[in-house]
Amino acid sequence: MALKFRLGPRAALPEGTLAEFVVEGVTWPVLAGVIDGEIIATAGVCPHEDVRLAGGYLEDGCLTCPGHGYTFDLRTGACAHDPSLVLRRYRVSEVAGEIWVELV
Ligand code: FES
Repeated sequence: MALKFRLGPRAALPEGTLAEFVVEGVTWPVLAGVIDGEIIATAGVCPHEDVRLAGGYLEDGCLTCPGHGYTFDLRTGACAHDPSLVLRRYRVSEVAGEIWVELV
């Protein structure tokens, strides 16, 4: 069974950046925003060593972790520094004007 989290209306999502959302009952936060017209939702912690990604550097659809500087492509989750690491991306849907994120 899927665990879905309601982010709110699309207009509440930041454009060109990511905001951190706390999900009740889930250990890690979710990062979400509208990047190049696409709603993106990812895990809010780095797959390298679990550093919070909020405040990471965002450029050209890639997020650089504030921990050790690894860069992740938000379109794919791929890591430019270590191919074995993937930033988890979540499926996003819009229902009746509300944006939902599917966590599992
Ligand atoms: S914790 Fe993110 S690059 Fe090391």
